[in-house]
Amino acid sequence: MYITVVGIGYVGLITAVGLAILGHTVHGVDIDAQKIADLLNGPCPLYEKNVQKKINYLYAKKLLHFGTHYRRHDRIFFLTVGTPASQDGTIDLTPLYAAIDSIIAFVPNGALFLIKSTVPVGTSRKIVHYLREKNVCHAVVSNPEFLREGNALYDFLNPDRIVIGADNTHCTAILTKLYQPLLNKKIPFLLTDPTTAELIKQASNAFLANKIALLNELSDLCVQTKADLGALSLGIGLDKRIGEAYLKGGPGFGGSCLPKDIRSLSRSFHQYGIASHILPAVITANNHRFTYIVNRITAILGGIKNKIIALYGLTFKADTDDTRGSPSLSIIELLLAQKAIIHGYDPKTKYDLLTYNEKGSIKFFSNPEETLCEAEALIIATEWDMFQNIDFEKIKTKGMLKSNIIIDLRNILNKNLIQQQGFSYYCLGRDI
Ligand SMILES: NC(=O)c1ccc[n+]([C@@H]2O[C@H](COP(=O)([O-])OP(=O)(O)OC[C@H]3O[C@@H](n4cnc5c(N)ncnc54)[C@H](O)[C@@H]3O)[C@@H](O)[C@H]2O)c1
Repeated sequence: MYITVVGIGYVGLITAVGLAILGHTVHGVDIDAQKIADLLNGPCPLYEKNVQKKINYLYAKKLLHFGTHYRRHDRIFFLTVGTPASQDGTIDLTPLYAAIDSIIAFVPNGALFLIKSTVPVGTSRKIVHYLREKNVCHAVVSNPEFLREGNALYDFLNPDRIVIGADNTHCTAILTKLYQPLLNKKIPFLLTDPTTAELIKQASNAFLANKIALLNELSDLCVQTKADLGALSLGIGLDKRIGEAYLKGGPGFGGSCLPKDIRSLSRSFHQYGIASHILPAVITANNHRFTYIVNRITAILGGIKNKIIALYGLTFKADTDDTRGSPSLSIIELLLAQKAIIHGYDPKTKYDLLTYNEKGSIKFFSNPEETLCEAEALIIATEWDMFQNIDFEKIKTKGMLKSNIIIDLRNILNKNLIQQQGFSYYCLGRDI
């Protein structure tokens, strides 16, 4: 099938590559001309495992194209543009409507719009009305995306479920054909109405955020009671009704989706005149988490004013270059506000895209060891595998870290080994 993906960001790029792998001929459109030029000429403007290789292959096979313009014969449009939220949870749908306007300006009636962007409950049906008011007639289907950055292509090709929210069976038939290779793998195909599909997406993220926030709260209780956080997570996660994912504990949830989707869902409750008591509590708990972590760091270091603190990991999770809503950045902001001096390192972050209020007090490095220069302590904020392979023996022997304090916000280092090497090691659920 010939498919157009509109908005080639983290979701759009994977959708385009994934659909081309499924055998479709895919055209990716974005208004960002530089991004398209980077996609065409390399390197890929965003980092996701194995994607560059796949793009090269699919491009050579003529299954994947990118451009800033639509093609005349395009009829099936996956909309994957950003849907940012303000603090009160209002979602800015301007990019989505702008994309729709640009499509209806050329496409004849009868096109299919698949909304993959995460949108507030009721948006797809509002788009149907919008199209009617414009005197055009196209089908609108909600097809939310559940991929995780860092595993995005795998998740696209092996989703736990495909959710389709459609009001007519003709669309369902097209989508059955479109996703047939995945249906052959017996991936559950959930057909429902557009409103329910939209709610499934945001409710799923709300459940995940709840799980993370509750585990983080329990981690604080572990510190006080000397219970073992690792064993607690395992013991809870082995219960099949709960499951092991999202139970590791950490500095708080972040990224471009969980905080936004919870705020948006919470707002939907409000708009429909219902009180959600749980969602605002989850947001509050997560915001407190960053302050709590910084208070603990301050206590461990006996104050942080004018002290250099090295911090490994700026992305919101490992295996992505995405720093949007990253807990690391929230923690850095709070450390800077207390006049700490930050040395930051991340294997994939594009440092020039980061902005800080206290610019002079933050410096980024391209090498993990150099980052430690003159630092009082090292904070590990993101769970990149490479941090486990750093030569801490050498760091200790050469005295690279001034006070030999390591604060592991992801519990990824081997506590016994690090302590044997002579570091004061602080980890979640025990000291933080
Ligand atoms: N990032 C994730 O892990 C993830 C997972 C599931 C769902 N989602 C949802 O998917 C959507 C996209 O997220 P993202 O992280 O890929 O966003 P993104 O910001 O990385 O990408 C959005 C892209 O859309 C482009 N764009 C904006 N307006 C456009 C227009 N009128 N025409 C063409 N292109 C346009 C932008 O230039 C940008 O490249 C959001 O609604 C998000 O909530 C994201």
